[in-house]
Amino acid sequence: MIKSDYLVIGSGIAGLSLALKASKNGSVSLVTKRKISDSATEKAQGGIACVINKNDSFKKHICDTIISGAGLCNEKMVEQLVVEAPERIKELISLGVKFTKKSCFDLEFDLGLEGGHSRRRILHFGDITGNEIEKILKKNIEKHKNITVYEDHSAIDLVLDDEEVCRGACFLNNKNNDIRIFEANIIILACGGAGKAYLYTSNPDVATGDGIAMAYRAGASIANMEFVQFHPTCLYNNKARSFLISEAVRGEGGILRLKDGSSFMGKYHFQKELAPRDIVARAIDNELKIRDENFVYLDITVKPKDFLIERFPNIYAKCLEYGIDISKDMIPVIPAAHFFCGGVVVDENGRTNVKNLYAVGETACSGVHGANRLASNSLLEGVVYAERVYKDSLQFLGKKSHATRFNLTTRNTKRSKDTPDTVFMQKWQEVRRLTWNCLGISRSNAKLLEAKKKIAILKKEIDSYFDTASLTVDIIELRNISCITELVTRSALLRKESRGSHFNIDYPFTLPDAKDTVVNIKSNKIYEAK
Ligand code: SIN
Repeated sequence: MIKSDYLVIGSGIAGLSLALKASKNGSVSLVTKRKISDSATEKAQGGIACVINKNDSFKKHICDTIISGAGLCNEKMVEQLVVEAPERIKELISLGVKFTKKSCFDLEFDLGLEGGHSRRRILHFGDITGNEIEKILKKNIEKHKNITVYEDHSAIDLVLDDEEVCRGACFLNNKNNDIRIFEANIIILACGGAGKAYLYTSNPDVATGDGIAMAYRAGASIANMEFVQFHPTCLYNNKARSFLISEAVRGEGGILRLKDGSSFMGKYHFQKELAPRDIVARAIDNELKIRDENFVYLDITVKPKDFLIERFPNIYAKCLEYGIDISKDMIPVIPAAHFFCGGVVVDENGRTNVKNLYAVGETACSGVHGANRLASNSLLEGVVYAERVYKDSLQFLGKKSHATRFNLTTRNTKRSKDTPDTVFMQKWQEVRRLTWNCLGISRSNAKLLEAKKKIAILKKEIDSYFDTASLTVDIIELRNISCITELVTRSALLRKESRGSHFNIDYPFTLPDAKDTVVNIKSNKIYEAK
């Protein structure tokens, strides 16, 4: 048993920021599934939204966030997110994070523009903003004696005591297959999202919804899982399925075109290529279905080569690897699963309904994204809520547990019966294909019912492997993605309308009352007024 004041699970912007803050007051175990930098943060290209310019205002950023969220944002939370942003950005800069300036002689930041924003307000570091943030936070973490980092540890389940208070979590050491329990006063899920539940995603391999699935099994309420945001423009290439072409490319004038060269976004929204992300993704999906084609083009050839190399060095180089010179050639793109707007229900301080358990970042559903996240608000959510959780948690430091017995939700012994790897691989494919086919950009009642039936069968099989086979990272992740597919299906079936990133052809309208869909393992299903 490893004991510390804080147990932080996950190492993206939210987990690393929180570990750094927490280490000022207590000992921290920072546990992560692969290496520290294996996170969605590391891959983030666009940047982090913050009101900086004189021609911008908090009111405008709040308004853009709420419009993008399609009526389902928690307005109080959105206000906190936007108003607290400048302080958190200053903090990142003081830790050493660099953001691109207008020129090397200039002190002014070069602010980017992305879909749904009425002003340029995206701080970025070229097109590798997440990499810069992750690198600097990691450097700072390494300096702290109070933080012990455990890489290659896969979280299996949360550990609750007899009174259902969270006391820690159970992990598989990926290297030697040992199972270890980490105990702490304060447990924080910062495990990112669940894009890997889909066949095609912009997310890294680690995004298997571990935090959401574990919280659900521990009794936490989970909300709005039907709002899976599809990024409109991932590179269409067999070898680079998950490579994102940042929305910032459209912010700099990129036009979406069909194979014949014609543009089409004007038909769908007055903001054209810069409409909120759900609208652009749906428009592309629709054009592809009408034409029975596999991709559309993103055309940024209007910009000079020097500009593109300086502003988008990573995208330029990556596309060139695949024979596309973006200064001359149009880029084939396709939407892919990108971000879960729903997750573990938290209050304004990141607390879940399970005692001692917090959730932060993409794992959480704080209400700031509503039915569709505004571009570049996700890194922001990670840092703003890291601060809020940290401040709130101080009151629980040093409190001793009275519980003597743990009720382990996972067996802590090695299993004996082995299932061949090929069976797991096949189940992985089945779950991800089912999610892609039935819970994609455009849904229908028939497809949702098909998903419900099929995922129930798959889950039963997978849960039985989990109970009997030797534990491996693959089986832990497979169990979690199947749980995510079930949660998305259940939430999508509860919503009898189309809103934001959830579109059901059988209910193409939006109902007047915005409601959250909340599911809980105990109460089974709830559909709540906001
Ligand atoms: C992008 O660079 O297009 C992604 C930004 C985001 O997901 O907010």
